[in-house]
Amino acid sequence: MMKELGRNDLCWCGSQRKYKKCHAEHDEKIEFYRTQGHIVPPRKIIKTPQQIAGIRESGKINTAILDYITEYIQEGITTEEINRLIHEKTITLKGVPAPLGYHGFPKSICTSVNEQICHGIPSRNVILGSGDIINVDVSTIYNDYFSDSSRMFCIGAVNEEKKRLVRVAQECVQKGLEQVKPWAFLGDMGQAVHEHAVKNGYSVVKEIGGHGVGLEFHEDPWVSYVSKKKTEMLMVPGMIFTIEPMVNMGTDEIYVDEENGWTDYTADGKPSAQWEIMVLVTNEGHEVLAH
Ligand code: MF3
Ligand code: CO
Repeated sequence: MMKELGRNDLCWCGSQRKYKKCHAEHDEKIEFYRTQGHIVPPRKIIKTPQQIAGIRESGKINTAILDYITEYIQEGITTEEINRLIHEKTITLKGVPAPLGYHGFPKSICTSVNEQICHGIPSRNVILGSGDIINVDVSTIYNDYFSDSSRMFCIGAVNEEKKRLVRVAQECVQKGLEQVKPWAFLGDMGQAVHEHAVKNGYSVVKEIGGHGVGLEFHEDPWVSYVSKKKTEMLMVPGMIFTIEPMVNMGTDEIYVDEENGWTDYTADGKPSAQWEIMVLVTNEGHEVLAH
């Protein structure tokens, strides 16, 4: 049996401070919320200061890779070429692309064009043309720490309707982020995201969500963007998760590509947009670790 941590013992988080001066108060508060019937985070998804420092470095690389690729994403480039450039940049920065080989995923990034919602597979047959919108989703392992973020890019002359979708999808992430603070709930974030999408005439994909991240690619909790205030997991300092709603211009219904088993599409063929950030809950509020 494990001995219960005494208030004068060193904290479990490795800070070298006494438990009572470190996480004791947090842990008591979490316990209180649990007794009130809320979903609370297990300790293994609350990152220690050392882990946070490592994940922060991984996130910086992920962000730098998206910055790097921006100038290349133009009319005429193939998604295979984007994949190759990002793969090589990741290796140069001493990282490893997390998607490659993940549950058999064949490429180093996901590239999802127009009505593709997510998990598009880079291909030399997909040539970006004027009017396309594309999500480039990058995930990096650096010193064993995982990071994950994605952005949208508009190719050439994109019509106003699609531009608005791309803009509103980004605003949704911002609205969600504003709700990220300790002792609030993931549902506060999810509702803010959903409300902003619906207010603009769009829908949000229900079946695919975000996730905890850092020590693994996908950790608990699973994160919904159609959730309700005061529901879902309590947000506690040290938790890291993604905000990555998939916002559809039309129906929220989706289907999976039967041939590759990966790529999700909108059922009505209308476009979908997604931006993804990775966020840490801090004592004061939040810190964006990758964008
Ligand atoms: N990067 C995606 C996410 O946001 C996950 C892709 S899994 C893969 O969660 F295998 F398709 F790469
Ligand atoms: Co993700």
